[in-house]
Parts: sequence; structure tokens; C-alpha cells
Amino acid sequence: MAVTRTFSIIKPDATRRNITGKVTAMLEAAGLRVVASKRIHMTKEQAEGFYGVHRERPFFNDLVAFMTSGPVVVQVLDGEDAVALNRRVMGATNPANADAGTIRKELAESIEANTVHGSDSEENAAIEIAFFFKDSEIVG
Ligand code: CMP
Repeated sequence: MAVTRTFSIIKPDATRRNITGKVTAMLEAAGLRVVASKRIHMTKEQAEGFYGVHRERPFFNDLVAFMTSGPVVVQVLDGEDAVALNRRVMGATNPANADAGTIRKELAESIEANTVHGSDSEENAAIEIAFFFKDSEIVG
């Protein structure tokens, strides 16, 4: 299996609880390598653009409000089949359905405050990485 790249966000519920290190440690323990990382406070425009595919969903406005409610940590992660590996360690979107040992089962507060975002495909990972990072900011 080849080393590939994915995109991750450590969400405001995690920065608020000061557990970004704990989340990153779980990503690293799963075999992912942080090759870019920065703490930002997303603007409303950034959150609306990033989550544009969800614009028609009933939870869209709440999602944008939550993602702009505090700082986040955006990260680029490398690993063996990184998109799938990251989704395994994150667990199901709703922490109530997540497997034991996953980030969302162990740390998430709710389906909205679910601690982490991870790309759902390599194609979207490339788009999401380019949304937040210049090539020069990624050091593998
Ligand atoms: P994320 O992977 O960041 O992508 C979209 C987010 O919408 C998702 O994680 C959830 O945190 C959030 N969300 C909020 N409410 C819902 C819902 N009812 N169904 C799915 N996702 C939701």
C-alpha cells in the first residue's frame, strides 16, 4: 500500500478542551505523520466555502457557526492509504456509532462537536489541502 495524503481538522470542541495534543497523538499512534499543521480561527466565509457541499443540509448553518466558534487546527497527514487510515482512527461521524478506541468514541461530544474532520477521498483531500495550505507549508 502506497503512502498517500489526507487532510484533517481538529475542531473547536477539542481546542476549547485543550486536547489537540491528545488527538494528534492518536493520529500518530495510528501511523499517520503530520506534515503540515497550523492553528487558525476560520472565518464564516472560509467555513461556508469549505463545507459548500453541505449547503442544502438542515445542519449547515449550525455547522458553520460551530466551526467558527473557536480556533481549529488544520493538518496535512501522510500515511499508508492515509484517507482510509484516518477515517478508521476517527471513527463514525456520530460518536454514538463509533467503535471503541477511535477518536470520536473516546473524545467527541456530539455529532456536531465531533472533534475531528477527515477527507472522504483522495480527490477531496487534495482540494481540502489546497483550501488551507500552500505547497511550501507542507514538509514531508
Ligand atoms: P465533518 O466530517 O466535518 O463533515 C460535515 C460535518 O457536519 C460532520 O463532520 C458533522 O460534524 C457535522 N454534522 C452536524 N450535524 C450533522 C448531521 N445531522 N449529520 C451529519 N453530519 C452532521
